[in-house]
Order: sequence, then structure tokens, then C-alpha cells
Amino acid sequence: MQIAEAAAALRAGGLVILPTETVYGLAADAANPQAVAAVYEAKGRPSFNPLIAHVGDLAAARRIARFDARAERLAQAFWPGPLTLVLPVGDTDAVCDLARAGLDTVAVRMPAHPLARRLLAAFGGAVVAPSANRSGRPSPTTYADAVEETGDKAAAALDGGPCAVGLESTVVALLDAPRLLRPGAVTRSEIEALIGPLAEAEADAKRSPGRLARHYAPKSPVRLEAEAPQPGEAYLAFGPAAAGEQVWNLSPSGDLREVAANLFAYLRAADRSAPTAIAVAPIPHEGLGEAINDRLKRAAGFVG
Ligand code: TXA
Ligand code: MG
Repeated sequence: MQIAEAAAALRAGGLVILPTETVYGLAADAANPQAVAAVYEAKGRPSFNPLIAHVGDLAAARRIARFDARAERLAQAFWPGPLTLVLPVGDTDAVCDLARAGLDTVAVRMPAHPLARRLLAAFGGAVVAPSANRSGRPSPTTYADAVEETGDKAAAALDGGPCAVGLESTVVALLDAPRLLRPGAVTRSEIEALIGPLAEAEADAKRSPGRLARHYAPKSPVRLEAEAPQPGEAYLAFGPAAAGEQVWNLSPSGDLREVAANLFAYLRAADRSAPTAIAVAPIPHEGLGEAINDRLKRAAGFVG
């Protein structure tokens, strides 16, 4: 019932708050330039920063993008799931120019969340879905946070509970040498095991426009690699640590998956306590830690 209403809203050019396994998205019909324009406007997002096209099956993905052997291998291994592939564009009507920011490439992903899959099946076409936050704010990982961010702009909203992964998808460009544009839940080593070494994202703004945008910034300053909080600071702890009024423990047992799932919600909670700063404990850099530390650096304002 809710799914049918949400699919009808998409068909009418409306925006839909969409749960995925990574973060909540603000979805629109990828083929409808007016609907896509409304997404940029709702987020306050610059239109030179292209969107990800979400599809329900491989056949749809192969229509909108041109797959090579590397893309096939990664899609086989990780879809549906938290991996986005940037490929040469196929059908340019299925994902309109504005959604691609005029590029001749397209970002494609097949999400795993059951509600996202049901909506994509009911709608039938590709759906753009940037994270449902307003531009420059942490991605929402709960229904309440998504509704708080952009709910007033949405014609329908689906409650899929808290997001299991909690960080945005890994973005890999397969245009020339494979490049890691955004680390995420599918780790560098999992990808390299299948297609060989990943080059770093280039500084070239045309190829990696997302790296220019300011991201994931809470209102309070963020202090990283903090062994302990100072008076007035909120603290995001990791591992066994003393509890306190302004302490949120990302994972008492030291589990990086738990850190990823809690990160954005705890950044928001800490921010709401209006501290002098949010101090964050050191988090290991290996595996999923690469994506977690990437988001923390952006929250602290160290990256573009
Ligand atoms: O997990 C996710 O990917 C979430 C959920 C909702 O699916 N979506 C998401 O979308 O994080 P967004 O718009 O917040 O991030 C998309 C990223 C941006 O960094 C953007 O620059 C990059 O993908 N991107 C999209 N199309 C691209 C393209 N053609 N070339 C290079 N980068 C692209
Ligand atoms: Mg985003």
C-alpha cells in the first residue's frame, strides 16, 4: 500500500524519502528533469555534483550504463549492496542530463534494503537518490533524522528502520584505471581482490565532482584522535571507556561495523548537546576504518 503510494508519487514527479541499507535517500524519477531539479533544490546541492541512479535489477543497470568485464565482476560480487559504479553512460534518457550533471558517465547502484527493492520494482525505472540530508550535513541513518532533514520536501516517506550499514556506498569509477572515489562499506581490499589495484581519486573536479562539496559537517567543531574529552566537549568513544553524560560510545567492543552504523546518528546526538567541540577517539584505519576515518575527516572540515 505504502509502496504503491510512493511509486505513484515518483511517477507524478514527487520526491520520496527512501530507506537503503547505507543511509536514507531522497528519491526522484531519474528520467524526469523537473523532479531531479527538485532534488537539488530540496538539498541545497550544487547541480554540478551528479546523483547516483538506483536500479532494481542488472538488466536495468546494463541499459543505463556500459558494463565492461570489471563492472560485471563487481556487480556479481556485491549487488545488491553498498557499492556504486561510475561507468560510461548508456541510455541518456533513462538518467537525464541534469542527474548526471551533464557528464558522459553515470553512477549506478542496486540497493539491498527490502523497501528500496520493492519501491524500485513497483516504479519500474531508475531512481536518483542522494543522501536525504540538506547539503553539508551528516547523512541521515534513521527515519526521524531523514524526515527532520528533508521531510517537508517529500511527497511520501518510507520508514525502513535504522540503516544497517550507516555510511554511504563505496564509489568506484571504471573509466580508465579503476579509482576509489569514495571509500565505503565494501572495502578497498575486497574490490582489489577482484579487479586489481585501485588508484586514488584524482583532484580533477570533472571526474570526481563530489570531492569538492563540503560534507558531513555538524555545527560544533570536531576534534579527532582525542584520547579523552576536555571539559565542555562531547565525546565519541571507541572500545572500553568510562561512560558520562556527554559520552556516546561508537562501539564498546571495538567493532568497526558497529561504529559505521552508529557514526552519523551519534554525531547528530553529540551536536544537539551543544558542546564546545565533539572530540572523537582514535579509530583504526584498516578495512572499514578507511571509510569511517574519511567521514570523520570531512566532519572535522579537513577535506574540501
Ligand atoms: O549510499 C549511497 O550511495 C546513498 C544512498 C541513498 O544510496 N546515496 C548517496 O548519494 O550517498 P550522494 O548523492 O550523497 O553521493 C553520490 C556521490 C557523490 O560524491 C557524487 O559526486 C558521486 O557519487 N557521483 C555521482 N555520479 C558521478 C559521476 N558520474 N562521476 C563521478 N562521481 C559521481
Ligand atoms: Mg550525500
